[in-house]
Amino acid sequence: MIRVLATDGMEKTAVEDLKNSGFEVVEQFYEPEELKEQIKNFDVVVVRSATKVRQPIIDAALETKKLKLVIRGGVGVDNIDVDYAKMNGIEVRNTPNASSASVAELTIGHMFAMARYINISNVTMRSGQWNKKKYEGIELNGKTLGLIGFGRIAREVAKRAKALGMNVIYTDIFGPFEGFEEFKFMTLDELISISDFISVHIPAAPDKKPVIAADQIAKMKDGVFIVNCARGGVVSENDLLDALDSGKVAGAALDVFEEEPTKNERLLKHEKVSLTPHIGAATKEAQGRIGEEIVDIIKKSFK
Ligand SMILES: NC(=O)c1ccc[n+]([C@@H]2O[C@H](COP(=O)([O-])OP(=O)(O)OC[C@H]3O[C@@H](n4cnc5c(N)ncnc54)[C@H](O)[C@@H]3O)[C@@H](O)[C@H]2O)c1
Repeated sequence: MIRVLATDGMEKTAVEDLKNSGFEVVEQFYEPEELKEQIKNFDVVVVRSATKVRQPIIDAALETKKLKLVIRGGVGVDNIDVDYAKMNGIEVRNTPNASSASVAELTIGHMFAMARYINISNVTMRSGQWNKKKYEGIELNGKTLGLIGFGRIAREVAKRAKALGMNVIYTDIFGPFEGFEEFKFMTLDELISISDFISVHIPAAPDKKPVIAADQIAKMKDGVFIVNCARGGVVSENDLLDALDSGKVAGAALDVFEEEPTKNERLLKHEKVSLTPHIGAATKEAQGRIGEEIVDIIKKSFK
């Protein structure tokens, strides 16, 4: 019987589907040392972001050569040593399409939250304040949204932002893309100099260097709004905070952080920052689709 270990939880329906199809599924989180032992007994490991599948774990799996497939339920595979696994004959897959609409909706939600002080109104009203005059916002309608990276999620953001009356522009290391002529492609420098809102939708750089740091922020329009629902550190947190304090950046929204859970007090307490705890893909629909994709990958791999 093919044995599947799900260390960071798996959708109930996906577990049932696999069991009904004759797979054995164990749902259990293991600390790294314990995982090193357990992994030797499984053909498939399904992780989200909590479990790290680094070289020592892969080396342990190679002792029995049972492990054939590692699946990341989600998009970013930065918690897995992908090249090392593949080099040793272990396939690594993710579920790239399942969460795009959910992350796009959260991105749009954060833009509204920043433009209309929704987050901070919630906080201050609960402490008895009524800041009606202070919270005069702006409309998204008519504003320019610059998307950095134009992959699956950014394209979903672009469609929704266009429907809201925004002028959507994008940059991408592989762009411009055919079929998206309604959105103007430009260089990163051009884009950041004319955007009212900037949203990043790219993976972290291999060297973990931020793509948006002080030198890029300096080139932006005064009063720009910045969103990061992609990966922690793509926008430098310290440089962003400095720019929020100086007034260069009017507001920022973060779903992802340089360290998670973040302990950055300056960030947590900043009234111009809209925060969510890495919930981009945390919707019933996305989790359902992630489960379906995982089942599909496993069934096809062990036909
Ligand atoms: N917040 C969340 O919970 C959540 C959920 C899913 C995905 N994500 C993250 O969102 C990001 C985007 O996901 P996606 O599915 O759209 O990915 P994707 O691979 O479809 O698109 C990424 C695009 O970025 C481009 N790119 C990469 N580096 C770039 C750079 N330095 N400058 C410009 N363009 C660059 C690529 O060419 C590609 O077109 C990823 O980092 C992913 O991990 C976050």
